[in-house]
Amino acid sequence: MNYQHGFHAGGFSDVLKHATLANLMAALSAKDKPYLIIDTHGGRGGYDLGDQGSVTMEWKMGIGRLLPMRQPPPALVDYIRVVRAYDKKFGNFNIKPAEGVRHYPGSPRIARALLRPDDRLVVAELNPREAIFLKREFAGDKGIDVREEDGYGLLKSMLPPPERRALVLIDPPYESRDETENAVAAIDHGLRRFATGVYALWYPIKDMKFVQALHEAVIALDPPETIAVHVQMMRMNPMPRMLVGSGMIVINPPWKFADTMRELAPWLAANIGGNRGATAEVKTLVPEKGARPPEG
Ligand SMILES: C[S@@+](CC[C@H](N)C(=O)[O-])C[C@H]1O[C@@H](n2cnc3c(N)ncnc32)[C@H](O)[C@@H]1O
Repeated sequence: MNYQHGFHAGGFSDVLKHATLANLMAALSAKDKPYLIIDTHGGRGGYDLGDQGSVTMEWKMGIGRLLPMRQPPPALVDYIRVVRAYDKKFGNFNIKPAEGVRHYPGSPRIARALLRPDDRLVVAELNPREAIFLKREFAGDKGIDVREEDGYGLLKSMLPPPERRALVLIDPPYESRDETENAVAAIDHGLRRFATGVYALWYPIKDMKFVQALHEAVIALDPPETIAVHVQMMRMNPMPRMLVGSGMIVINPPWKFADTMRELAPWLAANIGGNRGATAEVKTLVPEKGARPPEG
């Protein structure tokens, strides 16, 4: 396990993933019934972009592009508010770059910030080194349950939740060859135990064959309604395995979520990517049962 998210924090993939998380939470919070969030791959919880981020500067083509914008779309308002509030907590002691951000919240921090008092948040991080940071980030916070364990195992143990409502964020590092298999198997298991949960799986776009195979593997589970929010920030690169974008597969998308992402995804491609190769689409992988499949 070599992956350390600090090198990628705040990059375009985080923007898509964290904006997706914020919008899923907003949709689920529209009902007053509490829900459970399981973040299977938590990372450190928060990142100093002056640390590992200063090596790769990936955040510059992500949150660094977003923050200076005067009027971001409504679907980014919650997410940007959480980022600004998190950064502000550290005060003005740190020198900030021109893009105006130095500390960036990871998925557990974003979920924690948007959690209502009766909702529950459980986060797993398997890498002991990263788990130290995660535990430190939330030390003394009773509103989050931090576990140093395998996120897929955690998922098995938590479903079905007593709340009967759950959002599962699966954000693997895709380091190992069997990562896709493990993630898809975890979703399969999750759906068998709790078919009405919302499952959100992040995936990298480096190679369209990989993306196609992942989509097909999810479709083969015969899940309930499933969409893929697919955002390519640049043209497919002839350089093998270069990250050109990322996607989120969302099973059981809440009401109106797909419409929100149909507006947001192209906006992100145009405003963060912005070159001629940037494209985005929200694909229906599995239509709502009983609904007619889209044409074409
Ligand atoms: C992409 S990062 C997570 C970033 C985080 N979700 C965020 O958005 O801020 C993936 C993390 O998963 C951890 N990890 C890898 N395999 C895991 C597993 N089986 N269970 C839990 N965590 C794992 C890695 O150590 C790494 O910190």
